[in-house]
Amino acid sequence: MSDSNVLDNADRRNFLGNATAGVAAVGAAAACWPFISSMNPSSDTLEKASTEVNISGIAVGQSQTVSWGGKPVFVVHRTPEQIASVKNSQGGKEPQADSERTKQPEWLVVVGVCTHMGCIPSRTEEGWLCPCHGSLYDNSGRILHGPAPKNLAVPPYKFVSNDKIIIGEA
Ligand code: FES
Repeated sequence: MSDSNVLDNADRRNFLGNATAGVAAVGAAAACWPFISSMNPSSDTLEKASTEVNISGIAVGQSQTVSWGGKPVFVVHRTPEQIASVKNSQGGKEPQADSERTKQPEWLVVVGVCTHMGCIPSRTEEGWLCPCHGSLYDNSGRILHGPAPKNLAVPPYKFVSNDKIIIGEA
């Protein structure tokens, strides 16, 4: 992917900050997606959007947030321990095998938008915690606890080499 599509920590803060400007009641960590979404391109544009991601620089245990069609997507290079913690369970209220959510066990790619009311979850060692109402997702992006009804969405994506994925194409 081109580096311009990568949201490092500083860019992510800017991304959130810009998106929440003027919404004083909403903290930077609790940016709600419906507001951000209202500034996004039309659905026609989103359907055509694809994002190349160079994953060679994402170390084991690290994740990178990229933008796809105006949405944050978490690309996670999972550790063996993280994989082991999710591979033999079905998750919580929307049961799904980890193997159905990944193309390679080391890599998890999920849309970084909470399925409750659209906040952006924060990364934890165990997965993600949504700062808005406390929904907890595991390292497969599956909802475990809290008001979110569904797992974090897995976008269409494909590996085009060992170092590159394209989000938006399956
Ligand atoms: Fe995430 Fe409510 S928006 S828990």
